[in-house]
Amino acid sequence: MPQSLAGIREQARVKLRGICHVCPVCDGRRCPTGLPGMGGIGSGASFRNNIKALAAYQVNLRVLHDRKDQNLSLNLLGYKLTFPILAAAVAGTRVNFQGRLDEEELARYFVLGAAEAGSLAFTGDGPLPELMEAGLAAIKTAGGRGIPVIKPREDQEIINLIRRAEDSGAPAVAIDIDAAGLVNMMRAGKLVEPKTVEQIARLAAATPLPLILKGVMTVADAEAAVAGGAAAIIVSNHGGRALDHTPGTAAVLPQIAAAVGDKISVLADGGVRSGVDVLKMLALGARAVLVGRPLAIAAFGGGIAGVRLQLESLADDLAVAMRLTGCGDLADIGPQVLRVNEAWGVRL
Ligand SMILES: Cc1cc2nc3c(=O)[nH]c(=O)nc-3n(C[C@H](O)[C@H](O)[C@H](O)COP(=O)(O)O)c2cc1C
Repeated sequence: MPQSLAGIREQARVKLRGICHVCPVCDGRRCPTGLPGMGGIGSGASFRNNIKALAAYQVNLRVLHDRKDQNLSLNLLGYKLTFPILAAAVAGTRVNFQGRLDEEELARYFVLGAAEAGSLAFTGDGPLPELMEAGLAAIKTAGGRGIPVIKPREDQEIINLIRRAEDSGAPAVAIDIDAAGLVNMMRAGKLVEPKTVEQIARLAAATPLPLILKGVMTVADAEAAVAGGAAAIIVSNHGGRALDHTPGTAAVLPQIAAAVGDKISVLADGGVRSGVDVLKMLALGARAVLVGRPLAIAAFGGGIAGVRLQLESLADDLAVAMRLTGCGDLADIGPQVLRVNEAWGVRL
């Protein structure tokens, strides 16, 4: 098993041939596949907008200060995490990866790799029961260190899966509300739907676990999540896989965090590729970030060790970015580390 990230990526390039080129920076410009596959939906604009939105912010280099040591740890959902970088749910190997890894293998690589790194992974759901089963099994194996993301199915079905999540020892449960129009669920005869605030409130009340809503892209939905009793939201456009021509998540994050950040935990994902990207998301108001495709590549190239190494490499990179922007711990990271690039018309 290759021990360097370069070796892991080389291995992944072979295993993912025809599905993903394993580009030097995963930016959605050359994806050989969309959906199903690794790319974005439709024109791919939503995926690329995630990358562009992050690139629109520049960081202020500051090296005359006393923040000589960096502490990346945080408490999230009752866990002490080594760093604010979590593994996003990446599932559906039969359709997205032509079955080149078993669903159980992929889920185990994500969950155990993240747990070994001192972090947490999310696991996925889809039309085939094997997706949810693989995730729950991996979470159980990791002693509950993982969070299942349930599709916005019919409410009673969600509650049945929430019970399974409780049994697995998961510290929280999530619903990817942006999958409300997911074609492969609907084609398989599985209902997915937008949810009302009342439905969210009933689902949140049905479990003692904190409920996380993934796929919030507007202040209106963030406020609805708060009103429905969600414990956290993930600002996400599903890696550009839900709806074509949505903005990048980093572009909408500041307004959402400003509106609800004092009432609810705000996490974010989409296009995070480096420690500087993590720093930017945190400066824009996220408490932690999720990373998807780079970890899928690491899982294909290096299994559990690959996922762990990729997460740790991002964290090392974040520590350097914090040191060079005058941040000692995560609470130091605020808008002052950003210099807005006026060319993109971005306002904080
Ligand atoms: C192949 C693939 C499968 C995914 N499966 C799921 C899933 O089952 N549930 C979910 O909530 N998100 C899923 N996502 C979205 C990710 O959780 C995450 O939001 C996204 O990948 C983050 O963007 P990034 O890949 O640019 O880091 C998937 C993404 C990819 C690329």
